[in-house]
Amino acid sequence: MGERVLVTTALAYTNGPLHIGHVRSTYLPADVYTRFLKMRGVDAIHVGGTDNHGVPIALQAELEGKRPEEIVRKYHRRIEEDLRRLDIEFDEFSCTCREFNEEHVRMTHWFFERLYERGYIEEREVEQLYCPECERPLPDRYVEGRCPYCGAEGARGDHCEACGRHLEPTQLEEPRCVICGSEPEVRRTRHLFFKLSEFEEDLREWIEGNEDLPKNVRNYALEWLKEGLRDWDITRDLDWGVPIPLEGYEDKVFYVWFDAPIGYVTFTKQYCEREGCDWREYWFDEGTKIIHFIGKDIIVHHVLFWPAMLMGVGANLPHTVVAGEYLTLEGRKMSTSRGWVVWVRDFVELFPADYLRYYLITMSPLTKDADFSWDEFRDKINNELIANLGNFAYRTLSFIHRFLDGEIPDVEAEGEVVEAIERHHERVTELLERFRFRQALYAVLDLSGFGNEYFQDREPWNLRKEDPEECERVLKGCARIVKALAVMLAPFLPRSADRLWRGLGYEDSVHDRGWEEALRDVRAGPIPRPEPVFPKVTEEELERAKELLPED
Ligand code: 2FM
Ligand code: ZN
Repeated sequence: MGERVLVTTALAYTNGPLHIGHVRSTYLPADVYTRFLKMRGVDAIHVGGTDNHGVPIALQAELEGKRPEEIVRKYHRRIEEDLRRLDIEFDEFSCTCREFNEEHVRMTHWFFERLYERGYIEEREVEQLYCPECERPLPDRYVEGRCPYCGAEGARGDHCEACGRHLEPTQLEEPRCVICGSEPEVRRTRHLFFKLSEFEEDLREWIEGNEDLPKNVRNYALEWLKEGLRDWDITRDLDWGVPIPLEGYEDKVFYVWFDAPIGYVTFTKQYCEREGCDWREYWFDEGTKIIHFIGKDIIVHHVLFWPAMLMGVGANLPHTVVAGEYLTLEGRKMSTSRGWVVWVRDFVELFPADYLRYYLITMSPLTKDADFSWDEFRDKINNELIANLGNFAYRTLSFIHRFLDGEIPDVEAEGEVVEAIERHHERVTELLERFRFRQALYAVLDLSGFGNEYFQDREPWNLRKEDPEECERVLKGCARIVKALAVMLAPFLPRSADRLWRGLGYEDSVHDRGWEEALRDVRAGPIPRPEPVFPKVTEEELERAKELLPED
């Protein structure tokens, strides 16, 4: 490959811990992909972190009588820990919070100033709601009322949960201040607009001409473009966010969606400062591929708003944007407020992180909606991962341990086995290059399926008496397959892959080896006493997991 790749993951809001929806749509595919690139020797880095501004965090702080920084600090740590527990690795994990990251304020100003100098920012007068009781403006969710489209009560100033429409606070019927409940007034004020409409043609051309954008992302963005792009209000009357470096804007901050994606650049710069590289190489030089991993709900931000900002400052555009679709839980939409959700921490207290990784990858293709069900989870782990791959590896190693003096024999494997490994390796590689994570993992399992059949057909339990040399050849082939499995599982199930690896008697980590290692012969020599790599999911454990969900 020879190029530089910058992988980013959508920055999580620090208003709660991480749940399985975030993991499935964004973090896990990005982690698998980056691990794969690194194993192939590509100069790839993964940057991410948390998104700390915006009304929801300011409002939560206010309602809990805390300062927003407190909430940000608490959940930043928690999210980082949740990710660590799932073995999601970052080269830089940072935050956008103005209190903790001045670099981010500087980088946001750098973007703003460039866009301003180039004439892409315009000041306009807008109407906004103002609470006379609280004596303050009410941006976005500071106001609630009835949705003008579907009539649902409790619609927020920026969005109606019931019909999913985007709203402006002034569109709400019978609006109320969420802090004191009084009726707001309409007032006029000045805001800054980013002239998104000027980028419409360039964006269309870029999207239509970019074969690398996945279909779900392309179609969604082109649909949006049909309606025409409106200029974008990038300021808010709020005191939580990145301050605006312009006279007359002292009481306002940037809209969170203006500063959040700039976080990708800030974090790259922070990585480079530590590692001694130049962040501009990633964002301005040819030869870098920027790949954003996101959830489906933020496609427009990453394929329209953000690329327009990048065009405005003359930076590299994303090479592609990979968007994971929605995840439901036991057939119902997840809801953090109702507790209808599986938190990462709860999961890893019950089961190995790799089980979540396995299930989330294989439950359905990333570009299709999926449903998390505890029963399906048990079935997939017990009947696929364990029955196929776990069983093959354990069978092979146990046989070697018991009947071949605990040593992998020093003989050649059969050509048929070597070919099967090569064929599967090629297929897994090609699928991962195309972000087909589910198919790629199943292609790994196909190889263990081949191994199981091979073991069964050759009947080493008979060969060992009838033809000991042939028995050694067969077991050598099986051990070679176990090695290839360990290497190819490494990006998907990093811990289990290492356990398989050590089970073959290697003392280093499979993560220190390259992707092509799968094709090389397995070491000959003693192996440790085999242990099953994957414990079964028991009914008692499953019951405990189900108890975490609220009763209907
Ligand atoms: O939707 C969200 O959860 C946002 N916090 C994602 C931001 S991604 C990036 F632009 F920073
Ligand atoms: Zn009020």
